[in-house]
Amino acid sequence: MLRWLSAALVMGALAPLVALAQAPDTRPADAKPAETKPAETKPAESKPATPKVYIPGLEQFMNVILTEHNKLWFAGRARNWPLAAYELGEIKEVMSDVQDFVPVFKSLPLADMMDAVIVKEIADLEKAIEAKDPKAFAAGFDRLTAACNACHQGTENGFIVIKRPTRPTFTNQDYRPHDRQR
Ligand code: HEC
Repeated sequence: MLRWLSAALVMGALAPLVALAQAPDTRPADAKPAETKPAETKPAESKPATPKVYIPGLEQFMNVILTEHNKLWFAGRARNWPLAAYELGEIKEVMSDVQDFVPVFKSLPLADMMDAVIVKEIADLEKAIEAKDPKAFAAGFDRLTAACNACHQGTENGFIVIKRPTRPTFTNQDYRPHDRQR
């Protein structure tokens, strides 16, 4: 009798809890809060985002030019004139990219400075390569290098000093001319 009573009391005490626990399951579906509704009030989110465009920093263009400057020297030294012409062409290309993408740098008219400082040196070196003249090539290469440094000085980057390389940056490119090219 006592055991039955206590069981009844326990059941009685638990009943509201059980009811609560079951409540969410027994509520009709449409009684649940409409969580997805606000989405349709934000149509802007469905617009495609404007793609970001990556523009390398000036120092990245310059480091590519530095690599090509190195290759140019070893191509010329090896009298591999087609390769020398190619590397100088690549330097011109990157410089023209600099003019397009970084025409002004720290309020300095970089594009105009490029024209003023280095165009003549490049043209002279092109002639030396065309003439397949090793002496004129070496002299022209040094004048090109001096022009690099002139601009570095003119842009308060005089601490960036370019010089004739003493060895190739890469050892896995063969700078010697090959018969097919001659
Ligand atoms: C018209 C101006 C101009 C000319 C010409 C120029 N540079 Fe530069 N160069 C700069 C400026 C400005 C910087 C500094 C960039 C920065 O602060 O991000 C620089 C930086 C550099 C750096 C440093 C990059 C680094 O991260 O260490 C190298 C290397 C370099 N130049 C190589 C060359 C070479 C090689 C040439 C010639 C073939 C050349 N530059 C010609 C303007 C020039």
